Amino acid sequence: MWLLLSLACSLFGSALSDISVSVSGTTPFSLTVTSNQGVTVINKAILGGGTNNTASPVSASNDGVVSNSGGLIDWSLIQPNVVKIQYNSTFAFSGAQFAAEPNESFYGVWEYPWNDSLTNNGVEFDLKGVGNSVGVNWDNARAPAFYSSAGYGVYADTLDMGSFQFSSSQTQFIFNTSGLTYYIILATTPGDYKSIIETYTGLSARITMPPDSGYGPTFWSDNFEADFHGSVSNAQQNYYDVVDHLYYNRIHATSMFADRPYGTGNYSWGDFDFDPTYYPTPKQFIANLSTWGFDFQVWAANRAFLDTELYNASVAGGWLFPGINPEYFLGPALNLSIPAAYEYFLNQMAYFPSVGVKGFKIDRGEEGEMPVWEQNTQMRLFEQICETVMVNKWGKSGFYNFARSVVDRSRSLANVWNGDSHANFTGLRYSIASGIRASLLGFSTWSSDTGGYIRSPNLVADQPTPELWARWMHFSSYSPVYEIMVGTNHTPWYPPYPARLVSVLRATANEHHALVPYIKSFTYQATQTGIPVMRALFLEAPDDPTAYDTSDAYFFGDSFFVAPIVHEGGMRNVYFPKHAAGNHTARAYLEYYNKTSVYQGGLSAALNLEWEYSPVYVREGSIVVRGDINQGNNKWTQNWQPSLAIEAFPSYNYGTARFPYYNGMEVVNITLSSQAKLNTVLVQWDGSLGIPGQPQVVFYGKGGAQNATVKVLGAGGSAQVTGFQSIFS
Ligand SMILES: *[C@@H]1O[C@H](CO)[C@@H](O)[C@H](O)[C@H]1NC(C)=O
Ligand SMILES: *[C@@H]1O[C@H](CO)[C@@H](O)[C@H](O)[C@H]1NC(C)=O
Ligand SMILES: *[C@@H]1O[C@H](CO)[C@@H](O)[C@H](O)[C@H]1NC(C)=O
Ligand SMILES: *[C@@H]1O[C@H](CO)[C@@H](O)[C@H](O)[C@H]1NC(C)=O
Ligand SMILES: *[C@@H]1O[C@H](CO)[C@@H](O)[C@H](O)[C@H]1NC(C)=O
Ligand SMILES: *[C@@H]1O[C@H](CO)[C@@H](O)[C@H](O)[C@H]1NC(C)=O
Ligand SMILES: *[C@@H]1O[C@H](CO)[C@@H](O)[C@H](O)[C@H]1NC(C)=O
Ligand SMILES: *[C@@H]1O[C@H](CO)[C@@H](O)[C@H](O)[C@H]1NC(C)=O
Ligand SMILES: *[C@@H]1O[C@H](CO)[C@@H](O)[C@H](O)[C@H]1NC(C)=O
Ligand SMILES: *[C@@H]1O[C@H](CO)[C@@H](O)[C@H](O)[C@H]1NC(C)=O
Ligand SMILES: *[C@@H]1O[C@H](CO)[C@@H](O)[C@H](O)[C@H]1NC(C)=O
Ligand SMILES: *[C@@H]1O[C@H](CO)[C@@H](O)[C@H](O)[C@H]1NC(C)=O
Repeated sequence: MWLLLSLACSLFGSALSDISVSVSGTTPFSLTVTSNQGVTVINKAILGGGTNNTASPVSASNDGVVSNSGGLIDWSLIQPNVVKIQYNSTFAFSGAQFAAEPNESFYGVWEYPWNDSLTNNGVEFDLKGVGNSVGVNWDNARAPAFYSSAGYGVYADTLDMGSFQFSSSQTQFIFNTSGLTYYIILATTPGDYKSIIETYTGLSARITMPPDSGYGPTFWSDNFEADFHGSVSNAQQNYYDVVDHLYYNRIHATSMFADRPYGTGNYSWGDFDFDPTYYPTPKQFIANLSTWGFDFQVWAANRAFLDTELYNASVAGGWLFPGINPEYFLGPALNLSIPAAYEYFLNQMAYFPSVGVKGFKIDRGEEGEMPVWEQNTQMRLFEQICETVMVNKWGKSGFYNFARSVVDRSRSLANVWNGDSHANFTGLRYSIASGIRASLLGFSTWSSDTGGYIRSPNLVADQPTPELWARWMHFSSYSPVYEIMVGTNHTPWYPPYPARLVSVLRATANEHHALVPYIKSFTYQATQTGIPVMRALFLEAPDDPTAYDTSDAYFFGDSFFVAPIVHEGGMRNVYFPKHAAGNHTARAYLEYYNKTSVYQGGLSAALNLEWEYSPVYVREGSIVVRGDINQGNNKWTQNWQPSLAIEAFPSYNYGTARFPYYNGMEVVNITLSSQAKLNTVLVQWDGSLGIPGQPQVVFYGKGGAQNATVKVLGAGGSAQVTGFQSIFS
């Protein structure tokens, strides 16, 4: 309890909402939460039952003694904006119901975008991985938390199996547990949905900081043991072929990983090794990649294939989930709730960091290898193993683990990729939506397989078209992490792909690399507040009713608005969210590639863009910090040193902007202010930016870009331009 109380003190300044909770009915028992800011949450029933299909409203006295079945209900205000409810039941299943208005929208729970939507309206599904579906298979990040457009959220703090149901008159969840704790969370001020995410992630878990190499670009193949070109004759050389092409094309990259296959044994997993036929000298190979600036990760899963070391030890220990045939591709998982199984797996996995591996691609956990009600608990345990062996070797932020099946509290244990996207425009659209949705759940460090993964039924004919791939590269450039699958007949620098695609790859990979200081700063914010890098439009523009279900556009950090091309041909209608800020009725946007066209919030524009461009905009009055802070594979620059550029987009209509620059140790505020009377704009920072020398400071105005002289100011600096004409005036 001390933790919650101290959080309350640090999170909520003066904008406290004043809420109260009262019993609004006893038969059935119901609670109503109201705030003095006009939000009312009707928790219309608490459910109990012997099965999930028979759970029904319980009755209780005014002090929570359940009359019809036994058990107790308890509720209390634990933070100024949070009510905690505990139901200790005599039933095996328990849950809750909330009233909904027909015009209300619900968000959260699943990463998967049902019907390509951000909302869950009309959806009924379990809290488990989502299998083969439109756009993407196994799109699985999930959490027992939902948000309502009416200004509140509900978090059920459990890893037990459950189901959610969103209809036009009510929302409900039921879990396979007799002791249920859930929280009703109100926005601290109306429309501040970020405060709901902040409160929710404060109660559950927040992401941890990845290493700079974690943001990518990351290159990988589904099978480095195949598709050899030139003199390549094994997997190791196949990676070097990628290393060399990136070098000669001057494409920035920071890591590579081995998907399966790479080990010996059935389906190449379970012997905790590298297959010597393809990896004759794994330790030297990984050290060599590291010399060339690449971190290296490998595939891992909680899954025992017949006759492997993992399988044999598990059979001897009695650790496998029963009833799952090990002869099929899937094979059973180990029950990691058994301490000996957990210990064994932990010890075996330590092999990988011992030879230099710096992270796991954590696959599966939802493909039938364990009973469905075990998915949430088992994934968390496996992710804990993967995290522990890496932390033991590399320290807390020294590696990059990422998983497709991640639940609630494992947010602090693994980053997310959105599963097997389809290699077509449907897959791209669904991936964008799933990125926004995963982010709403606080899984900020997220990626999609650039170009898609599922190339079926024909591996060659169904590979991404050059145009799809180019559009997706732009999306990944403005994603928290850029990862791209090459090899197995689809590599941008090999036929049938044109040289033009390699140019787009170079431009987008290098743009992503240059954005790392920006992405890293907002990722750090996500570790502190849960507020993600990719943001649903309503997080930034809550007054705009059209912002509530846009699944193909997002804000990226505080400064960018991104609306990728999602159909073949390059046409797109972009609606610019209307955001009142400062003295604005609608903050404007500057197109970011050419930096000449300004668009007003609340209006739309029809675009038609070549592969080389993508709809990316900076918000009026904002700051972008970019540069080159991680050398990665950049061995083509002599005497490489880190550098930064602060780009300012001043507006006399907008007050002071603040950029929370994270220098790797602490946040340094970079501010942009303007004085209309004096026609002066000023950028200032009050601490070290962590680079040798000074950053470039560039002001963008009517006359184009102006580089300003930087003055040293204590540990920080400043740069000013007078006679400045804002591009937004
Ligand atoms: C009950 O549980 C089963 C199995 O998990 C699930 O398929 C079903 O959707 C659940 N039904 C409800 C109403 O929660
Ligand atoms: C419910 O059970 C938990 C765990 O046993 C206990 O801490 C809590 O006080 C109980 N609450 C009520 C209302 O009985
Ligand atoms: C939704 O409907 C309720 C009344 O049913 C109304 O008070 C509220 O303003 C409406 N909200 C929106 C966003 O239209
Ligand atoms: C949305 O998706 C759910 C789950 O697949 C489906 O049951 C429902 O019919 C869909 N709704 C619409 C409007 O397409
Ligand atoms: C509920 O969980 C128990 C294990 O705790 C399991 O035996 C049972 O099958 C589960 N029920 C459902 C419907 O998932
Ligand atoms: C190390 O990697 C480079 C980069 O591609 C490669 O050319 C070289 O052959 C590798 N060295 C060894 C000893 O394998
Ligand atoms: C691999 O699995 C197959 C069945 O799928 C089995 O027949 C074989 O013995 C296993 N072991 C090895 C080493 O291939
Ligand atoms: C996209 O790819 C998936 C998986 O291969 C396929 O089922 C679907 O039909 C494709 N969609 C389109 C529009 O081609
Ligand atoms: C940038 O300018 C070029 C050259 O005029 C044009 O072809 C391109 O479409 C512009 N890009 C955007 C995003 O407006
Ligand atoms: C906003 O308007 C008020 C007066 O209405 C003025 O004092 C203030 O300077 C303005 N702020 C900005 C950022 O223009
Ligand atoms: C940066 O600005 C924020 C918001 O104004 C403030 O809370 C924080 O203390 C500042 N940080 C530093 C290091 O000055
Ligand atoms: C101005 O700054 C930009 C961004 O760092 C840089 O690319 C450019 O070379 C600078 N121009 C001059 C004239 O210094």
